[in-house]
Amino acid sequence: MIESIVTEIQNNTYKPIEINIDRELTSQEIDIISDLENIFPKSDFYFIKNRVSLIFNLREIDLSFFQNKLNKLMNTYQINGSDNIFTQLLDHIKNIKSYGLKGNKRLYVDYNKERKVKNRKAKEAERGVYYYAQDHNFSKKNNELPEEFINQVICGDSAEILKKLPDNCVDLVFTSPPYNFGLDYENHKDGTDWNEYFDKIFAVFKECIRIVKFGGRIIVNVQPLFSDYIPIHHIISNFFMKNKMIWRGEILWEKNNYNCKYTAWGSWKSPSNPYMKYTWEFLEIFCKGDLKHKGDSNKADITGDEFKKWVYAKWSIAPERNMKEYDHPAMFPEKLVEQILKLFSFENDVIFDPFNGVGTTTKVAKQFNRKFIGIDISEEYTKKAKDRLKNVDHQRTLK
Ligand SMILES: C[S@@+](CC[C@H](N)C(=O)[O-])C[C@H]1O[C@@H](n2cnc3c(N)ncnc32)[C@H](O)[C@@H]1O
Repeated sequence: MIESIVTEIQNNTYKPIEINIDRELTSQEIDIISDLENIFPKSDFYFIKNRVSLIFNLREIDLSFFQNKLNKLMNTYQINGSDNIFTQLLDHIKNIKSYGLKGNKRLYVDYNKERKVKNRKAKEAERGVYYYAQDHNFSKKNNELPEEFINQVICGDSAEILKKLPDNCVDLVFTSPPYNFGLDYENHKDGTDWNEYFDKIFAVFKECIRIVKFGGRIIVNVQPLFSDYIPIHHIISNFFMKNKMIWRGEILWEKNNYNCKYTAWGSWKSPSNPYMKYTWEFLEIFCKGDLKHKGDSNKADITGDEFKKWVYAKWSIAPERNMKEYDHPAMFPEKLVEQILKLFSFENDVIFDPFNGVGTTTKVAKQFNRKFIGIDISEEYTKKAKDRLKNVDHQRTLK
């Protein structure tokens, strides 16, 4: 048994981290090292001391557990100050940016050994990543949003109002167009001929592509009309791709709204025409010119835990409960906007919603210290959106 463990460890490679220390270790340092080696298995890491350095051979680690234990040991053995060998070691580990994940552990060696595809980068280049958007002619020069539009909620037709804005002046567009389902909007007929519907929303989206910055994003929340067999999310994605935007991916917004008709089965207990039911919507994500959006890392307000959770692209968020209060039939829940803003934009970025409704996007943007602009065709909704901006608490996380 012991033999087999030893062989396993010998076969595993480790990533050496070298801390220069041109002296003998103190007795407290030796005690901490030995305690650590007792707490963690040798397959995670082990130390070697030579004349001029301490080498930490690292294979895998639960970093927060390790940090916790190390802090306690430093307290116990009274090792203080920010420049001792252990804090140096922790900094080194934290600075390693490439690792795999196995449960709570970070894997520093062999983590991509089991990848099925070898030479991924070369193969990507051969296939041509986002080939449909490579020959764009977007300008890389970004512009400031004119002062008179900053933090404004405007009533009007977005296709018209947007003509007043310069190219490349908005960091993130987040929106949900009307879905053409026949909902009761105040000043918009929802439910026209499909071609007319797409002409109208594409006129707005074309302007959005123009005004979004190089490296900026457009994220569209949309629900296909399954009962008409119209895959609106695919048609919209095709439109953006034809207009040279990079399709970055898709988030499934699981609403868990089981009030979809359970009595409508299509063909009951028969494969002749079963009717499928959906409790989710889609968020389609597009980038202009570049997948990277430049920004000051000090202005990123997403926490590590939020990031880890939200990059899994299926979000379970309940639908908005206050639609009656605002008398609007299709509002965003605030949590959805928070997650989009923190994952895809920096503080101080300009956020724009061309179908702003009663202003959930603009309200949450203000709350999370972004600049904003929102447009809706309905005067009544615009007034409510403006009211919602009063007394906004600047917050870091919503419940
Ligand atoms: C799905 S709702 C958006 C609701 C919004 N996300 C919220 O949380 O309140 C779509 C909105 O688009 C507006 N709308 C429709 N056509 C428009 C246009 N051409 N320009 C601006 N707004 C428009 C409607 O009045 C409606 O409020």
